[in-house]
Parts: sequence; C-alpha cells; structure tokens
Amino acid sequence: MIKIAPSILSADFSKLGEEVIKLNDAGADFIHIDVMDGEFVPNLMLGTESIKHLREVTDIPLDIHMMVEKPEEKLDWFDIQPGEYVSVHAESTRHLQRTLAKIADYGAHPMVALNPATPLCMLEDVLDDVSGVLLMTVNPGFAGQKLVPQTLGKITRLRELLDKTGHEEVFIEVDGNVSFENAPKMYHAGARAFVCGTSSIFGKNGSIEENIAKFKKSMEE
Ligand code: DX5
Ligand code: ZN
Repeated sequence: MIKIAPSILSADFSKLGEEVIKLNDAGADFIHIDVMDGEFVPNLMLGTESIKHLREVTDIPLDIHMMVEKPEEKLDWFDIQPGEYVSVHAESTRHLQRTLAKIADYGAHPMVALNPATPLCMLEDVLDDVSGVLLMTVNPGFAGQKLVPQTLGKITRLRELLDKTGHEEVFIEVDGNVSFENAPKMYHAGARAFVCGTSSIFGKNGSIEENIAKFKKSMEE
C-alpha cells in the first residue's frame, strides 16, 4: 500500500483551506507540511498558526517536515497531535535520539529526514526510534527542482539496511521531484510514501483529483 502526501507548499495559497478539502476528498493519506526557518534551508515557510487552521479543515494526519535548526527547541510551538508524522533532519539536531523521543512523547510518529548528501550511517543508531525515514531526493527548500539521481540508489540501500537490521516496519518516504516518471522508480527501490508537489498532483495539467488517481495508477504498472 502506498501513501500519498501532497505538499502544501505547492498548493494555491490564496485558497489553502479549499485545496486541503479537495485533497481530503481525493484520497490523500497525509498532508505534507514544510516548515522552513531561513537557516537550515534558504527559505521561509509555514508557521504555527497556519498549521493550526489546517487541522480545522481535515482529519488527514499532518506530515510535518521540520527544515529548521535545533528542532528540539521549536517542537513545542506546534501543538503536535497524536497520530501525526513529524520529521526532523539528522543534520539539524545534536541530540537526534532525544529529539525523536520527544516527538514520540506527543503520541506522534517520529521520522528522521536526510539530505541527499548525508550518508545512511547517520541514522543506523536511531532506527528503533522511528516510524519512517524521509529521504530527500532534492536539496530541501524549494519546490520545482530536479531529482538528485544518486538518491534512487540510496532508497534501495536504505531498504536493504532496514530489512537486514529487523526494521521491516519502518517505511521510506521520498520528497522532491516525485514526478509521474520518477515515482515508479522510487517505488521499485522501496519507497512507500510519496511527497507530491509541482512535479505531479499540483502540476500544470489536470485537477488534483485526476492527478491523485493518475499517481496511484502509475504505481500499479
Ligand atoms: C522540499 C519540498 C519540495 C516540494 C515537493 O523542501 O517538500 O520537495 O514541495 O514538490 P516538487 O514536486 O516541486 O519537488
Ligand atoms: Zn518536505
């Protein structure tokens, strides 16, 4: 079973609530929310108030991607709810295991995120502490970038590492240029959750509903 995580960063911000309702009705599994602090990534994005309002229009679990320095100091600002997914970058926090444990304390699913250049050995010792791994397939910060091709092999190597170490239940989510063309390759490499932005469901062609249906179908082929 695959999980579709539409990236709110790519939605129409003039009618964000309506966009989320559309995603809800079209069968999205998560709502992916990029939080950026202008330090960890060269951009600023969604803050605590907007996230609170999004929770009012949907019951779909939020998938909060913290692209911020020292996330351990900021998690409390977000009123994280049980059942939500929260990713922190291994590159952003000195005490990664403690930060992941803090996410679990909210009743949320801890996830560890890695930039394309960060080796998989960075997460070997926290695999017991996560529900999933968010592998960046572009350098984070902006929508509309091209796939970093070597990340495809990294998905395969991560799946092998998870299976070899008894972490079969830990899932791999991919983020960045998850296009109709790239997604099946990511799926075959072992990805099961897909952050969908301008490359697929918020693209120029087709409605959100049509594109989610097309995305799911492309994975069956
Ligand atoms: C990363 C973001 C983006 C984006 C995904 O910081 O999560 O990867 O919204 O969408 P596209 O398809 O534009 O890469
Ligand atoms: Zn993201």
